[in-house]
Amino acid sequence: MGEETDDVKGKEMTEQRKGGINMIYLDNAATSFPKPASVTDAVTECMTEWCANPGRSGHEMAMKSAEAVYRARIEAAGLIGAGPDEIVFTQNCTGALNIALHGVLRPGDHVVTTMMEHNSVLRPLNAMRRYGVKTTVVRCGPDGRLSAESVRRACRDNTRMIVCTMASNVTGTVMPTEEIGEIAAEKRILFLADGSQAAGVLETDVESMKADFLAVSGHKSLMGPQGTGFLYIRHGTPVFSVTEGGTGSESESIVQPQTVPEGMEAGTLNVPGITGLAEGIRFVKKTGLPEIRKKEENLIGYLSSMLEGRKNIISYGPEKSEQKVGIFAFNIRGMNSETTAEILDRQYGIAVRAGFHCAPFAHRAIGTQNSGCVRISVGMFNTEKEISDAAEAILDIAEIAEKRKNSVKISDKNMVY
Ligand SMILES: Cc1ncc(COP(=O)(O)O)c(C=O)c1O
Repeated sequence: MGEETDDVKGKEMTEQRKGGINMIYLDNAATSFPKPASVTDAVTECMTEWCANPGRSGHEMAMKSAEAVYRARIEAAGLIGAGPDEIVFTQNCTGALNIALHGVLRPGDHVVTTMMEHNSVLRPLNAMRRYGVKTTVVRCGPDGRLSAESVRRACRDNTRMIVCTMASNVTGTVMPTEEIGEIAAEKRILFLADGSQAAGVLETDVESMKADFLAVSGHKSLMGPQGTGFLYIRHGTPVFSVTEGGTGSESESIVQPQTVPEGMEAGTLNVPGITGLAEGIRFVKKTGLPEIRKKEENLIGYLSSMLEGRKNIISYGPEKSEQKVGIFAFNIRGMNSETTAEILDRQYGIAVRAGFHCAPFAHRAIGTQNSGCVRISVGMFNTEKEISDAAEAILDIAEIAEKRKNSVKISDKNMVY
């Protein structure tokens, strides 16, 4: 399974990690780690050699910074089949989603979304209830899958927007975004796709998805630094700014320009982050999405083959690794998900995430609303050896849980360890 490539890349990353915390990092759905050396080099070069304020002054350093931001726009646009002036840089995917939601929705509007959404969608929609925006949350199956037809049925005359993640951050389930885009276009409803878990792994072509907005994290599979993300806004889509302030343009006026992108990017941009993100996107393009996808699919397939059907292990999400991104969600019967993650961290040096993953309705769909679950999420730099070490650690813990269960009566229902 491409171990040679792993080794080469692994070596490069090991060099980089000297002196760092020595863990098996399997929390890439939260943020990817490590980053390619080209990303950290670009950030360092930016910060040590020329980082000034882009678009504010005309001196050479400011011009160089503005050029770096523009080049990053071109990279981001190229990745998703958009134009550079359709890309708004944000702090993260949450910032991007909030612009699309708060910048469009008005009292009386109705929104259709799904049970698999992250709180960065659900919380803004919940906050907007107070001024009369209503939301329908469409049911998903126990493996997180969604029928596009149920999205169609949930639409009403006043539905202004459909919001759907491209892939669940809990189970990795890939959602039918192209079919949903089709429905939205047919009904003339705006379509906001959340590409946080998809960009850098799956095709994120805004034309084939017919997306009006695509919100993206820069710091996950796009390999950029934290503090980066972007929002694609289709040309001509009506949206208002949600943050007002300096843009470097029309400085003589107190009126916020509503032009995309600068009107949506008030305040000084994160130039080191954006420069790093551009390198991350270049890394993704150079490696190729099919290669990245294959690598993650193989790792998850391997992990599943070691854990699925084993005594005491309950796994969630679609069975086939091609139906999900690089996530394996599970629980050890009788053990709280946080306890499992804590043992993996403290005793085995393995970093995973446990609990509810900021997606409360997703847990209702998969039946883990009382327990949450443990999430293993792989990245481009994980190796097969790391996966088998993690699987063995989990099997060890499951065995201990089984022994404890036999000596102390533990209620399955409450998942208490
Ligand atoms: C599906 C999904 N949407 C949105 C977000 C928010 O992304 P960010 O952390 O970049 O704001 C996440 C983060 O994990 C996510 O998984």
